[in-house]
Amino acid sequence: MKKESKGTKYKQRTISVWNEVAPFYHKRWAKNEVGPFNVTKKLLELSKIKKRDTVLDLACGTGLVTKKLIRKVGKDGQVFAIDSSESAIKIAKKWTGSSKNLHYVRADAEKIQFNTKFDAITCQYALFFFPNEQKVLKNMKKFLKKNGTITLAVHGKYNVPYFDSILEPVKKMIPDYLPKYPEMDRFGTKETFADAIKKAGFRKIVVKKFVFSYSPGIFSDYWNNYKRHLSKPLKEKFDSLTKFQKSNLREMIKDRTLEYTKKDGKIVFPWEVLVLTARN
Ligand SMILES: C[S@@+](CC[C@H](N)C(=O)[O-])C[C@H]1O[C@@H](n2cnc3c(N)ncnc32)[C@H](O)[C@@H]1O
Repeated sequence: MKKESKGTKYKQRTISVWNEVAPFYHKRWAKNEVGPFNVTKKLLELSKIKKRDTVLDLACGTGLVTKKLIRKVGKDGQVFAIDSSESAIKIAKKWTGSSKNLHYVRADAEKIQFNTKFDAITCQYALFFFPNEQKVLKNMKKFLKKNGTITLAVHGKYNVPYFDSILEPVKKMIPDYLPKYPEMDRFGTKETFADAIKKAGFRKIVVKKFVFSYSPGIFSDYWNNYKRHLSKPLKEKFDSLTKFQKSNLREMIKDRTLEYTKKDGKIVFPWEVLVLTARN
């Protein structure tokens, strides 16, 4: 299959998955700023965005970064927020409220068009979703003022056991469980993250690492919540397992959580996050 058609197919899948999961994502994670979402405050501090700036929040999701940006730039600044999921934008609009200087656009990050140039661009937990991230990064560069800044956050490749404790055993049983393309952890080290941004022509690149913690409750909460909130394509694959396989899987996953399980039975996972800043 050609790269472009693979990319297009993957993006369509991403849109339909995010249209489905956005309400739960907002309620469980973004709205409450739990675990890895503690990074939002750090991201905004590092961005050095100031009053009267014109900023773009790329892949704004349900509006977590956007909401804080509106306060940061003040009434004389401008905030543009784009996302490819209609359902995410709908939630964001309701949550942030409307104002004259806030503009939501449903768009693919690879194909953005603006009549304005930005002082700053933020992109939290989305770069790894773009099949052609260089195209997106070059777009950012194109619409960024000279000396403008980008501030991006991604999950670490290592030390994110919330994902790995379940996904590694599941992928052993269902090898095609997740799309192989694009590789979601390709920016998950300081070096690979900085290399991708350098390749797009940015300078003064700095990557900082943060480790947050997140408790999904006791093991049965973690496991049952995972199963309950699977998106349609994953649920179809998961449901193809026999009862015996599912019970084996549960045991394998439970074993992997033991090192993070406290005396009261609650799991507390570490969660590594990288934040990168760079200039045009
Ligand atoms: C994990 S969420 C992050 C949302 C938000 N930045 C936050 O921190 O809560 C990833 C978002 O990327 C969006 N996304 C994925 N691919 C995209 C694309 N090609 N163009 C625009 N948005 C995209 C999804 O719709 C989703 O809302």
